[in-house]
Parts: sequence; C-alpha cells; structure tokens
Amino acid sequence: MKTTPAIPTPDDAALWHEGRLYLADQRLLPERAEFLVYDHAAEVADAIHDMVVRGAPAIGVTAAYGVVLAGRDAFAAAGAGWRQAIEADLERLAASRPTAVNLFWAIRRMRDRIAQLDAADPTPALLDEALAIHEEDRAANRRIGDLGAELIAGPTDIITHCNAGAIATGGYGTALGVVRSAYAAGRIRRVYADETRPWMQGARLTAWELMHDGIPVTLQADCAAASLMAGGTVGWVIVGSDRIAANGDVANKIGTYGLAVMAKYHGIRVMVAAPTSTVDMAISSGAEIPIEERDPAELLGCGGRRIAPAGCLARNPVFDVTPAALVDAIVTERGVVLNPTTEKMRALMG
Ligand code: MRU
Repeated sequence: MKTTPAIPTPDDAALWHEGRLYLADQRLLPERAEFLVYDHAAEVADAIHDMVVRGAPAIGVTAAYGVVLAGRDAFAAAGAGWRQAIEADLERLAASRPTAVNLFWAIRRMRDRIAQLDAADPTPALLDEALAIHEEDRAANRRIGDLGAELIAGPTDIITHCNAGAIATGGYGTALGVVRSAYAAGRIRRVYADETRPWMQGARLTAWELMHDGIPVTLQADCAAASLMAGGTVGWVIVGSDRIAANGDVANKIGTYGLAVMAKYHGIRVMVAAPTSTVDMAISSGAEIPIEERDPAELLGCGGRRIAPAGCLARNPVFDVTPAALVDAIVTERGVVLNPTTEKMRALMG
C-alpha cells in the first residue's frame, strides 16, 4: 500500500485507476489530502474498518471495488477454482463494519454477478459491476438532491450532522446533495454543521466540502444545536443514513436521534436523504439494526491528547436509531416518503 501525492477533491472518496483502487484518506482531511493505493481486498477491509473511507454509500462502492481485487487475486491463485478462493476475502470485507447496510448490499450485488460467471478470469466483469454501482450512486444522489430541495420552501437555515457529502458517497452527497441543490435554488441561507464527536466528520469534512463549494457554513459544537433551534431561523435538519428499517426507523451517526427529538420540540422538520441501497426491508424496525461500538480510546482523547482521567470508562456507540415518528421525510432516488410507515416504505421499495 503506497501513498501518492494526488490531491482528492470532495468528489473523490474512491477511484479505480489503471487496475488499482485509490482511496482518499479521510482521516487526514482537511489538513492533508492524500490517496492511499490498494491492490488486495484484505487491505480494503482494513481501510473501511480504520475509517480511511467512511460514509455508508462510499463504503458500499469501496467494498465493490474490493471484490474486484478479490476476484483478481483468487483467479491468480486458483485459476478455474477462483469461485471458492474468493470466499475468504468476501467474508473479510463483510466483517469490516456492521451498521451501514450499503456494505452488505454491494457485496450481495457483486455475489449475484459472480453467480453468473464461468471459470474464466472474473476481473473484467466484476470491474464492470463495481463501476456501475459507483455511477448509479452518483446519479441517485443527483436525483435525491433535486427531490430533497423541492421540499424546502426556504430560504432557511439548516442543521446537518456528521458528513453525508460527496466524500461519503459515490459523489455529490446525500444530505449535502440536497444542500447543494437547495442552495443553488436559493432555498438555503446557511448550513450549521455539527462538529460530530469523536471523529469530527462535521468539522473536518462537511465544513471542508461546503467551503470548497462556496456554500455558507458555520461550525457548531454538537451540544449547541438546541439553542440554535430556539432562535427560530432553522427550518430543517437534513442528515444521511447508514440503514433504514422497513418501518422507516433510521440509523445514522450518534447524536442524530437527539437532534430529531429537539427538532420535534421546536417544530423543525427532519429530512433523511439516502439511496435505496441504504434501505433494509429485511428488518422490521430499527431495534434490529446492529450498532457499531468502537474503541473507547476514540472518546477518551481528543486531537491526539488524552483528556479523560486514567482508568475512566467510556462507551462509544457510533450510531443511533431515530424512530420513524420523528422523521418528516425520507428522500431516495425512487421518490420521497413523508411521515414514513411500513406500508409507505413497502410501496417505495416494491
Ligand atoms: O462513521 P461514519 O463516518 O461512517 O458515519 C457516517 C454517517 O453517519 C453518515 O451520516 C451516513 O453514513 C450517511 S453518508 C451519505
């Protein structure tokens, strides 16, 4: 795995170039912009786990490219027996992070393609499929952006949490795709970006993306959202999602649930922008969504310095579930679901 001096733009979470996978190292942004280069699926699984790449749709796109690398290695090692040889890598990719269903959706789609192939080198066909997944996600986000923007009467301020931008997806972004389209249409005055402890995706990535596009953005501590809401300028909370259950319950970055509760109290609407690859109709409610718990060390320090006393216990769930009753709109590329219920989600997903 080597580092190149290439500079990622906010549109480049993952790139396939001359037979290799390039991932913008999101842990370093915005201080340093570097791509890491990957040739093997096991390294890609580690990159997902270690947050080199993050954001549900970007994780799915990356996993798809990981399957391409797995197929190439399996064919080099086992020839016509590649179908068996690829299994360990597929399992390793699937074990990289538990919450974003886009990961499992992408691996399932690559498996469906694998099932159609013969004993010949699978690399070209798998690459076609991964590139299609990437391109379809980009196109879905453009559509989500337009549909979400139509819901905003505006001009209004909005709050977003974490980063659901271009760098968290195949391009353009989900929540930030809506922001981009709505800002272009004159419906958003200003974006308030929660900093998003402990990984600071809002401070590091959302602020960086929006400043790059010239969209007015103000950073705030996560706990500053309620007092901003009380001020009366905020019309919408707009967030992405890692998994949406069949009844419309939404898993997203830890803190989203609290924002939705506060929004309800203040009469502010909540929009969840996500492609249908984020919808998991196999689970009936958010109670079944596996919530990732990460190393408490991520919380016990800040900026490379320990802040909590030695021996202090910490819990570090990195997602929470917002009940459907607190969600005003789920915006997907197939359409908008207002006040989601199981019946409406079934009608959307077919
Ligand atoms: O832990 P992360 O940074 O992968 O969490 C990301 C989020 O919670 C995003 O809001 C979600 O994946 C949607 S990204 C379009």
